This record gives sequence, structure tokens and C-alpha cells, in this order.
Amino acid sequence: MPRKTSSINDLNLADWREYDDIVTDSLWRIPERDRSGAHLADYHGNFVPQIPDQAMRRYTKAGDIVIDPFLGSGTTLIQCRRLGRHGIGFELNPEMEKLAKSRIRSEDNPHCIKTLSVAGDSSDIAKTPAILRRKLKQIGRENAQLAILHPPYHSIIRFSDSPEDLSNCPTVESFLESFGRVVDNITPVLEDGRYLVLVIGDMYEKGEWIPLGFYCMQEVMRRGYKLKSIVVKDMQNNRAKRNLEKIWRYRALAGGFYIFKHEYIYYFEKLRSSRRKNLKRN
Ligand SMILES: C[S@@+](CC[C@H](N)C(=O)[O-])C[C@H]1O[C@@H](n2cnc3c(N)ncnc32)[C@H](O)[C@@H]1O
Repeated sequence: MPRKTSSINDLNLADWREYDDIVTDSLWRIPERDRSGAHLADYHGNFVPQIPDQAMRRYTKAGDIVIDPFLGSGTTLIQCRRLGRHGIGFELNPEMEKLAKSRIRSEDNPHCIKTLSVAGDSSDIAKTPAILRRKLKQIGRENAQLAILHPPYHSIIRFSDSPEDLSNCPTVESFLESFGRVVDNITPVLEDGRYLVLVIGDMYEKGEWIPLGFYCMQEVMRRGYKLKSIVVKDMQNNRAKRNLEKIWRYRALAGGFYIFKHEYIYYFEKLRSSRRKNLKRN
């Protein structure tokens, strides 16, 4: 049968029955985190490697470029090496960036791709766009084909003392402003028609559920992106609440709320420039 290809991935739709391991449902239960190779799972606040793995296989082709502006321990770029995608990551904490770099390098690089990490603030509108363009040039390109954003969930985990750290934003409004600047920095170099993937959970503050994920979703959409899917991902093994189930159950019963057991993965497609212009006019 002739190959049935797509412009945004390497899947052959003529063989679509063979892609059993590619998730297409909006409810994710991942039984086991991938702990193979350089994926060590020891960074509090990392995501399971299956998230960038699924995103890259569906929304990139071999040799495409992936941007991760919240690199953390380097999960996305490790996965880039496995799948043969180039990667550019920003991490604010220089010690973490150094550690991520050595982990990424410890992963085999069978496809000889480039994984470039930067110690810096991805929300900095004065410096980040130029750094991003320089890094793209180093790979010999002008554009990226996928962005994966896994920001702090506001103040739930404090990642550093730095005022530029999104986990230190004093209010939800200032968090959203900083998050919006990160999207602004990436958007000009993300190819039209390509995907931005956002991984985030909600938060609870002073007796009120704060729908952080939906607020961030709006920030992305107002910058010229179309929402393609929202995945609800099970996070039963959340480290912060491990061994504290009973006390959380008591708190929930007493406080009239439900305990977070999920986070979101939002999938957006960048609109073509003519549609983005119309959006600005309206
Ligand atoms: C949720 S973690 C990302 C974890 C990553 N996905 C992984 O698997 O290791 C968010 C990361 O964003 C970093 N960060 C916070 N504010 C930042 C900023 N303004 N610029 C770049 N990185 C930032 C934090 O230091 C933290 O490592």
C-alpha cells in the first residue's frame, strides 16, 4: 500500500493499525514512568518522558526542532536524542541547567542531532528572542516545529529564590504575565501550523480552586493559537501527597473540596499569519 504521510509527523497512516502505542484518548493513565537511559526521575517537578515522546512522535518529523523554555532536568531534550529531533531548552537555575546538560549528554545520540541548553530566563523579552535565533542558527535553521511548555504550577513547588522564577510570581496575574511573555518569545520562531504543548495543573488557595491551566490556555489562545485538545492526565503518584492520603482525605471532607489527582496537557496549533492578523484586528 502506498505511504500516507502528513506534513507534521512521520506516521504512515496506511499502517495506522500498527500505532497501538500512540495515545489518541483524552484521558491518560500512564502505569509506569519511563526510567530508561538518562531519564532518572529524581527532579521534583519533572514530567514523565512519555509526554514529550508522544508529542514529538505526533507533531514532529525526524530532524525537526523542539523548544522547551522550562527545561528542568532535561527530559524533553533527552527524548529528542532518542527520537532524532533537535532540541533547544532554557532553564533559569544555572546549576540545574548544568546538571540537565550533563544528563542530556549521557544519553546516546544515534541520530547525531543537536541538543542546546541555555541557562537563562525564557520570559525575558529583551534577551531571549535573540538567544533563540542564535541557537536556531547554530542548528542551521530559522524556525522550530514544536514547543513543549512545562512551567511551574505557580507557587506549588518553589524552584529557586530568583525573582524571575515563575514559581516566585507574587500573584496569579503576574504569573500569567510572565507566562505570556514566554509564549510571546517563542511564537515568532514557531512555524505556522505547528504545535505548542502546555503541561500544567491547577492550584488551590485560601479555600478556592484556581483554574491555572485554563487561565494559561487563554493566554496561549489570545496569541494566535487554535486549541486542538485537552488531555486530563492522572497524577495519583504525586510526590507531594504520597503517604499523606488520609490527612488529605480528612481535609477534603472538612473543607468541601476535591483532592487534585489530575493535571492537563493542552495541545494548540499555531494559526497561519493571515488568521493571526485577523485575530488582532477583532
Ligand atoms: C515544572 S519544571 C519543568 C520540569 C521538566 N519538564 C523536567 O521534566 O525536568 C519548571 C522549571 O522551570 C524553571 N523556570 C522557572 N522560571 C523560569 C524562567 N523564567 N525561565 C526559565 N526557566 C524557568 C524552573 O527552575 C523549573 O526547573
